[in-house]
Formats: sequence, C-alpha cells, structure tokens
Amino acid sequence: MELNKLLISLLNLLLLATAISATARVPTLNLSSSYAPIPTGAVGPPVPTDPGYRVQHFGYGAYMVTNGVYQAMFLVGCESVVVVDSPPSIGYNMLRAIRDVTLLPISHVVYSHSHADHIGAAYVLGSPENITFIAHRQTADTLAMTPDKHRPAPSITFQDTYNLRVCNQTLELNYMGSNHEPGNIFIWAPLQKVLMLVDIVYPGWVPYYELGVAQNVPGYVKAHTQVLMYDFEYFVGGHLDRTGTREDVLISQAYVTDLFHVCAQAMNLSNDPNSTLYAPAIMGAVAEAHPGNSWLVVDTANTQLINYANNVMNEKWEGQLAGLDVYGESNAATMLEAVLINWGVNGAFGVTNEPF
Ligand SMILES: *[C@@H]1O[C@H](CO)[C@@H](O)[C@H](O)[C@H]1NC(C)=O
Ligand SMILES: *[C@@H]1O[C@H](CO)[C@@H](O)[C@H](O)[C@H]1NC(C)=O
Ligand SMILES: *[C@@H]1O[C@H](CO)[C@@H](O)[C@H](O)[C@H]1NC(C)=O
Ligand SMILES: *[C@@H]1O[C@H](CO)[C@@H](O)[C@H](O)[C@H]1NC(C)=O
Ligand SMILES: *[C@@H]1O[C@H](CO)[C@@H](O)[C@H](O)[C@H]1NC(C)=O
Ligand SMILES: [Zn+2]
Repeated sequence: MELNKLLISLLNLLLLATAISATARVPTLNLSSSYAPIPTGAVGPPVPTDPGYRVQHFGYGAYMVTNGVYQAMFLVGCESVVVVDSPPSIGYNMLRAIRDVTLLPISHVVYSHSHADHIGAAYVLGSPENITFIAHRQTADTLAMTPDKHRPAPSITFQDTYNLRVCNQTLELNYMGSNHEPGNIFIWAPLQKVLMLVDIVYPGWVPYYELGVAQNVPGYVKAHTQVLMYDFEYFVGGHLDRTGTREDVLISQAYVTDLFHVCAQAMNLSNDPNSTLYAPAIMGAVAEAHPGNSWLVVDTANTQLINYANNVMNEKWEGQLAGLDVYGESNAATMLEAVLINWGVNGAFGVTNEPF
C-alpha cells in the first residue's frame, strides 16, 4: 500500500513535470486558423469536468460511460457486473462510474478489439483471478504479439458467436470479418436494444483520421450494412460524447459511400487526358523537374487526386458532419488508396501498355 502511494505520487510529479515542459515547448502553435462551426446535434449532453465522466442508463441495468472522447459500457446483473472495454483515458473513473450504481463484483470484461486506447485500463477492473476476460480469437492472437499487463489475455475466446449470459443479463457477441481491425466484434444487448461496435461510426462526426485507422476499408464500409441488420435503439461507437441512432449510422454510411464514388471518379479522371487530374502529365512534369525522385512523382499525382476528392466532399457535406475540415482529407487519402488497391479501380495506374 505504502509503495503504491509512493509510486502514485512519483507518477503525479512526473505528469506535472511533463505538463510544464509541454507548455514550455509549444509557443509556436498557431491557434488562429478558423474551422467550420460544429453542427448542432454532433455534441451530446455535457460531460462535467468534475468527476470527468458522464453515465447514460439505457434501462435494465445497461450503462454507457464517457469522458467526452471515449466510451465504454457496463451491465449490472443480479449477482455481478459485466464490463465492455476500459479505456485508459477513463481509467479509474470506470470503476467510480460502476460503484456509483452498484457494489456488486465485476465478473466479466469483454474486449471490443485489441487496441490499448479502448482496453488499456482493463487491469484497473481486476485480474484474471477474479474476472473472466472475453474476446475474439483474433484479438487474443493480436494481444499475444505484444503482451501487455494492462490488457490481460482473454480466457474465453470465440470465432463467430458467443452468447454471454450472466444471471439476468445477456450480451450477444458476433464477429463478421475484419473492418477497423481483424477481431473487432459487434456487441449486442438485445433486451436493452443497445449495439456497440467500436471505431466504425462516429455519430455526428466524420470518422477519425484514415477512416478511423481502418485496416480493411471494404470491411469498414460493409460494417455499416452489418450494423443496420441489428434491431437497436442506441448505438455505442466507442468515441466522442454521445450515443448514436439508426439515422447516425445511415448518415455515416452515406458519407463513406459518397467518398468511395468520389474517389473512384478521381481515379478515373487520372486517366482522362482532358482532365487536370491526368496523372501521366502531372508525373511527367514532376519527373522532368526532379529527375530520379520517384516518390515525389507518385505523391504529387496522388495529392492532386486527394485534393480533388476532398474538395468535392467538402462541397457536398459542408455543415452536415463535424470535423469534415479536420479529417476529411485524411479520410479521402485512405479511401483513394483502397479504391486502387482493394477495389482495383486503377485509372492511370492500370495496364496501359499494348498486349503482345
Ligand atoms: C496563423 O494562421 C492564420 C490563419 O491560417 C494566418 O493568417 C497567420 O498568418 C498565421 N500566423 C503565423 C504567425 O503563422
Ligand atoms: C438485472 O438485475 C439488476 C440488479 O438487480 C437490475 O438492476 C437490472 O435491471 C436487471 N436487468 C435485467 C435485464 O433484468
Ligand atoms: C482478486 O483476487 C485476488 C487473488 O485471489 C485477491 O487478492 C483480490 O482481493 C481479488 N479482488 C477482488 C476485487 O475481488
Ligand atoms: C470508373 O471507370 C470504370 C471503368 O471504366 C467504370 O466502371 C466506373 O463506373 C467509373 N467510375 C466513376 C465513378 O466514374
Ligand atoms: C477530350 O476533349 C476533346 C475536345 O473536346 C474531345 O474530342 C475528346 O473526345 C476528349 N477526350 C476524352 C478522352 O474525353
Ligand atoms: Zn481501435
């Protein structure tokens, strides 16, 4: 105990020092650029700075906890508590949020996926001695590659479906293929009509950069259709401060579908000699000015396509989703790459020489 206290005060000192030196090191930040206003409706009810989290009750003992940027869930059963995710940014507040509601022990922790930013405070909830950790088999494999005491290895893993019944609570866990990452699961509370799927739909906002760092972009797009197959009233996306509705999922689906078509169109224009996006002309000019710099040649043509897609999307989507001017360009870059390498729409980058 004393050692723990010592460690905690040392840690606080370290954090304080880091904070001070961080402020000292940032005087060159230019904060005067203007950004699009955040559309009303993107933001949820306020998260009080003290205690730093907000809890939303869905009924029948199911709750969402958010600190404004991350979201996790817990379900109070008749004998114990089931938790889904434990983001380090929420940290011990996850335990506080649960203890505000019940003193029952935590018996199960479900991992939505392997990423530390969503489950890196799992150890705060207890150890494998007291808690059953559950995840997709692929998540267990991914975790095993980078063992981390903050994310205990799951003792129950599954491939397609796992029905978790704990006293009076039920969670249906389903895997429908890779999207954000292999092993990212759909977590459904049928009685409360709550569906949790992390890092796919960001209600009211465009996806986090690189389409939420999607490892499999076609799987990422498809996940929207898969979400809509569920009969849910509340969608928990793992990020920002509010839950979503079917409407939010439909809007996100429309945004990514539109982005796909605009990027496919940009790719096609790269092979149209009449277009300013005609890649052979752009690449030829760069190669002449900077002989031998292959990456610059590719990057210049690619940047033109990204800018085109981003501009078209900005015109179509302005004022509809928050963060369009922050992550729209990154999302366009990721989709453009996927249009080429996954969907095989390759414009000027397809076969252009003659058959022999
Ligand atoms: C800061 O950004 C604004 C808006 O983009 C720009 O007008 C201004 O010149 C910048 N200031 C500096 C010091 O770079
Ligand atoms: C299960 O039991 C807990 C504790 O009594 C209660 O809060 C919760 O509403 C119940 N949930 C269901 C689905 O019956
Ligand atoms: C978990 O198990 C360990 C070892 O059996 C025990 O020391 C600890 O008190 C338990 N914690 C809880 C919250 O039950
Ligand atoms: C791009 O070109 C392909 C092949 O010609 C065509 O099938 C597709 O409809 C085009 N896409 C767009 C968005 O123009
Ligand atoms: C390019 O424009 C010219 C003149 O308008 C037209 O004749 C030609 O068909 C166009 N080429 C393509 C590939 O669209
Ligand atoms: Zn993730």
